[in-house]
Amino acid sequence: MIRPMRDEVERYGHYSLAAESMYDHPFQWGSKRTGPDLARVGGRYSDEWHFDHLTDPQSVVPESIMPKYGFLTNRMIEPSNMKDRLLADSRVGVPYDEAMIDAAIEDFRAQADPDRDASGLEERYPGAEQRNFDRRPGISEMDALIAYLQVMGTMVDFSTFQPDPAR
Ligand code: HEM
Repeated sequence: MIRPMRDEVERYGHYSLAAESMYDHPFQWGSKRTGPDLARVGGRYSDEWHFDHLTDPQSVVPESIMPKYGFLTNRMIEPSNMKDRLLADSRVGVPYDEAMIDAAIEDFRAQADPDRDASGLEERYPGAEQRNFDRRPGISEMDALIAYLQVMGTMVDFSTFQPDPAR
């Protein structure tokens, strides 16, 4: 959420902070709004809810105009170029360090597989959640999207956050 309107803060939570988007490239900030604000949606619904909602939004919200994204379940992600992706992002300012870039493929696999050792992942990305997000074999774009939705708005503790009074 970019615009700190009072009613929006009441409905969705604290307005977005620039630091929360430090891994986004390019930035996706904007004011065009068709569906609800998703900046604080992390942890509000279960992975199963997201899977059902993305696959067929009308099955959970009958009046929804949101399109179906079930095809993401069949689009598997090829991890071999993950290291290059992080390297390219780091060159344009995303704060991935050398250890993150070196472990990119290992971390990618560990995050979506609860049977893998996640200690390195946790060390490099404190608080990272590890599980099979879509409950189906392999790592698909559905896994990635649910993982992303579940982390949105969860990286800052707003019960202790002090806004800069000058702003
Ligand atoms: C990959 C793209 C999209 C994702 C990840 C996504 C995700 C979500 C999520 C998580 C919600 C529930 C939010 C809440 O209850 O607070 C939601 C609701 C909604 N979205 Fe989307 N959405 C996407 C694309 C779209 C598009 C393209 C449209 C419009 C054409 C749209 C319209 C809506 C509407 C109207 C709702 C409220 C009704 C409902 O819960 O289905 N969404 N979306």
